[in-house]
Amino acid sequence: MADANGNKEAKDYGLDVPVKKEAFFLKGLDHVDWGIKDRMGRIFNKKSGNTVMLAFDHGYIMGPTSGLERIDLGIVPLIDYADCIMCTRGVLRSCVPPQVNKPVSLRFSAGTTVLNDLNDECILDIEEAIRLNASALAIMVSVGGKYEAKTIDNLVRTADMGAKYGIPTLGVTAVGKELTRDSRYLSMASRVCAENGATFVKTYYCEEGFEKVTAACPVPIVIAGGKKVPELDALTIAYRAIQQGAAGVDMGRNVFQADAPVAMLKAVRGVVHDELKPEEAFELYNELKSA
Ligand code: R5P
Repeated sequence: MADANGNKEAKDYGLDVPVKKEAFFLKGLDHVDWGIKDRMGRIFNKKSGNTVMLAFDHGYIMGPTSGLERIDLGIVPLIDYADCIMCTRGVLRSCVPPQVNKPVSLRFSAGTTVLNDLNDECILDIEEAIRLNASALAIMVSVGGKYEAKTIDNLVRTADMGAKYGIPTLGVTAVGKELTRDSRYLSMASRVCAENGATFVKTYYCEEGFEKVTAACPVPIVIAGGKKVPELDALTIAYRAIQQGAAGVDMGRNVFQADAPVAMLKAVRGVVHDELKPEEAFELYNELKSA
């Protein structure tokens, strides 16, 4: 019995040193479990409090869109410069080398494609997410859409399973053709995601009142990039979103469809982590592009 005999008497109790009480660095997440904090801490940079996620899950509804024809050629070289990747299990297994060792926001809901009514979705098996070592479960939520109840039910069940195994849930606000991307809608959609258990929310930036969207959402918000726009415009959107309270971007087309995707991703990082102004980031983009 090694412990019973010759055990050194414990004496270093640090009686004059109070135990540190530290708040978690991301908003609204002080009371979630350790595993969720650990995974969120891998997705978000502790210094800036923000994240640059690279989204390339578009194929699950669009097929091989521009820039995603060959994931091995178009996307894998970008992964080193992202804080987290967002993709489907199919592309993860078939094209992403596990040794990239990046947190994965796994596309956890799937269903109809752009050829049909979007958002009629089911969810994956939680064991699949655990097998793939997912750091977040991304769920589409269509507030105000035809499949509102179904997608909210998907979110609720995902958040329950995620909480059971310590995996964060990312509520992704879908925007149907019939819905307007204004602050009134986006704040409602984001808030509905948070209220129903999302650990963080992905939504769109809007020109008017985006600070109200982030203020009214009790958990971190990251923005999607949306359709490809000129590089300076995309950097301006990212800059304004961060200034108005977003905790990062989950950007796809504006990175992988850029003229120089690696340069663009580095420029986005400058805005999100280093407080570069859009013009400074664009200058960086041009420098890197011509190097
Ligand atoms: C959205 O639901 C897709 O799954 C993408 O992940 C998302 O739209 C982000 O990509 P993009 O910046 O191209 O809009």
